[in-house]
Amino acid sequence: MSDELKKQAAKAAMQEVRSGMRIGLGTGSTAKHFVDYLGAEVANGFECICVPTSEVTAAQARSLNIPLTTLDEIDSLDVTVDGADEIDANKYLIKGGGGALLREKIVAAASAKMVVIADTSKMVDHLGAFPLPIEVNKFGLGATTKLVQTIMDEFAAQGGLALRQTKGGQAFETDGGHFILDASFGLISDAKALSNALLNVPGVVQHGLFLDMCSAAYLASPDGVVELGGTV
Ligand code: 5RP
Repeated sequence: MSDELKKQAAKAAMQEVRSGMRIGLGTGSTAKHFVDYLGAEVANGFECICVPTSEVTAAQARSLNIPLTTLDEIDSLDVTVDGADEIDANKYLIKGGGGALLREKIVAAASAKMVVIADTSKMVDHLGAFPLPIEVNKFGLGATTKLVQTIMDEFAAQGGLALRQTKGGQAFETDGGHFILDASFGLISDAKALSNALLNVPGVVQHGLFLDMCSAAYLASPDGVVELGGTV
């Protein structure tokens, strides 16, 4: 998607924030634009306290003098604005392409509202074309991989399972010190059942299905930004 569309979606989401709010800051190339817009407002006197969903976003926010805190200091947020890898008509999401899904889900769950920003190319009829990121504990990786593969077989996955690698060929490590398995389902027919099955595997820390979490989405296309509203 073009960077300009990412910017437009991020700018539209600025209408969700008010001075004085506690805000969750997402991770990824679209969320980065939102943090830039927020930083510009902070420079003009906008007051907020924010919780970043990754070390990368934390560093960006610090560079813009956006006040940061943690979910130890405050236990709830007004809104979180974050990107997504896929979004369907129910506002069910696949997230974690950037590897921040665990913190993203913790922060979103602590927020009264989760707002997604993306371009319309992220809209899908059915989730699953984007490989589902599954964050796993390093301990027992082989055994966990086998159990996840069994679940993929049960859910008729059309593709394979891969340990995420860095460009340098090392296993990618999340901010929490875990690995990520990318599971290519092709089509996820029952996202809730799949979520439950994956969370039942002891070595699975979390997965990138965000179900009943997204309250609104701003989706940019060359014709403008559309809002997917509704209730969660
Ligand atoms: C990171 C994420 C991102 O929000 C998702 O990958 C979308 O990223 P981008 O805005 O760069 O397309 O889930 O873990």
